[in-house]
Amino acid sequence: MTTPERPDQAADRTSRPRLTVIGTGYLGATHAVCMAELGFEVLAVDVDQSKIERLSAGEIPFFEPDLADLLRANLATGRLRFTTSFEEIAAFGDVHFVCVGTPQQAGGNGADLSHLNAAVGRLAPLLTRPCLVVGKSTVPAGTAADIAQTLARLAPANHTNGAAAGTNGAAAGSSGAAAALGGVQLAWNPEFLREGFAVADTLRPDRLVFGVASPAAEGALRAAFAPVIAQGVPVIVTDYATAELVKTAANSFLATKISFINAMAEVCEAVDADVLTLAEALSHDVRIGGNFLRPGVGFGGGCLPKDIRAFQARADELGVGVALRFLGEIDEINNRRRDRVVELLAAALDGTLAHRRLLVLGAAFKPNSDDVRDSPALAVADLLARTGAQVTVVDPVATHNARRALPTVAYSDRVEDSVVTGADAVVLLTEWRQFAELDPARLGPLMRRRVVIDARHALDGDRWRRAGWVYLAPGRPTGVIPTGVPAQWPVPTSAASTPPAQVAAATRVPAHAPQVG
Ligand code: UGA
Repeated sequence: MTTPERPDQAADRTSRPRLTVIGTGYLGATHAVCMAELGFEVLAVDVDQSKIERLSAGEIPFFEPDLADLLRANLATGRLRFTTSFEEIAAFGDVHFVCVGTPQQAGGNGADLSHLNAAVGRLAPLLTRPCLVVGKSTVPAGTAADIAQTLARLAPANHTNGAAAGTNGAAAGSSGAAAALGGVQLAWNPEFLREGFAVADTLRPDRLVFGVASPAAEGALRAAFAPVIAQGVPVIVTDYATAELVKTAANSFLATKISFINAMAEVCEAVDADVLTLAEALSHDVRIGGNFLRPGVGFGGGCLPKDIRAFQARADELGVGVALRFLGEIDEINNRRRDRVVELLAAALDGTLAHRRLLVLGAAFKPNSDDVRDSPALAVADLLARTGAQVTVVDPVATHNARRALPTVAYSDRVEDSVVTGADAVVLLTEWRQFAELDPARLGPLMRRRVVIDARHALDGDRWRRAGWVYLAPGRPTGVIPTGVPAQWPVPTSAASTPPAQVAAATRVPAHAPQVG
């Protein structure tokens, strides 16, 4: 039930729409908090009662820098509220942002749209006055057109006088921009925030993409993003399908850049070249640029891997699968990097990993996140555990999620003496700052063997070597396992009699690392 507005409040809302956010995961919770921070009244809904209780109490259910402080500050202003009631958000909102997840289908590569369809199916019959529904979820091209049809069919505001005359809707309480819609309309507004930088990316995105079907929808979106647009952020106004494609194309391009440099790492390993120097030299060419050219153990997370697979699946359905066939190769290159870490480690430990005590640094798919979905770190930990090694995974914030995703290894939140003591090797898989600051001279005496694999190129290799460690990093000269040529790189003396190529062959693991998380 909404309370009647005072005239001054109503006047303010003619320019400032009331916002709702549907789904309070990474995207939704961040969007809700940041839009309140930008001055809007925001009501966010989720079907998960416990999540709503935690958010209402000022607690973020996942790790994201700066977000909890902003949540608490905006709860205190009264501008930000949370609910489990779709009726409440339908009555409240002029612009409804749909932020639910679109994970990979359980039995295939396509996107699972069940959460999205359920959210729209639940909201649409409750929309009795003009408003804009805005899809932010990452979806296959063509999804927005389907959702627009669902709204046209199910939303009562599209079947009453309110649909024909926006002024009726305004009288019923819509903001000016929403009333001009004349009914319920859809827009697609893909989100480009990165986990770990979600707040900054939302408050000051590098671009806004508006997929709309009418000038009124564009007007309502501009009103909803007015403080962002006022900062000079570029706005690209387009149709639904192009807006949908911008997101999947962007993530595919980023994945391609990462796999490109990792493919170069493979070649570097064959000729004893240095992929880090190669990447640096490439980055000075402004046409190439240096971002997302960091080689290592490859990309993971809840977005890049599933998005390139869903994009291929959709292209197949559209009859243009051949155009995106290369994305299959991007995925393969990415998965090979996980195997490569296992090979390097086995070679450094006399060809066998069984019964070795291994310390894995990192569980999250990247630093500043507790997200372990498709995490390369956990996938490698799993591969190592399957060889019979005793694996302990250390991560500052992700062990809670990691335990559920991969219960077969041990966990610790800190690199304590007891965790390190007697270990045969350290494997760095997530480049947390804390790991880069570790003191190799302090850790060395605690180890049974001083072997470190720096799979993210986050450590100072010279410092570790000076402290007596065998330091190996994929794609760098000391990390090469030459095929058919003698070993050129430092291995512990006891391993020197085993040609690395044979070791690598003996410890070969399946080409596809299992999906975890
Ligand atoms: C990615 C995109 O960067 C965002 O723009 C997009 O909004 C988001 O997906 C999404 O679709 O929601 P995110 O998944 O948070 O964001 O993570 P990224 O920063 O893109 O990193 C992805 C993976 O690539 C990580 O595992 C990271 O370690 C790896 N990576 C990144 C590299 O291996 N090398 C690099 O040079 C950069």
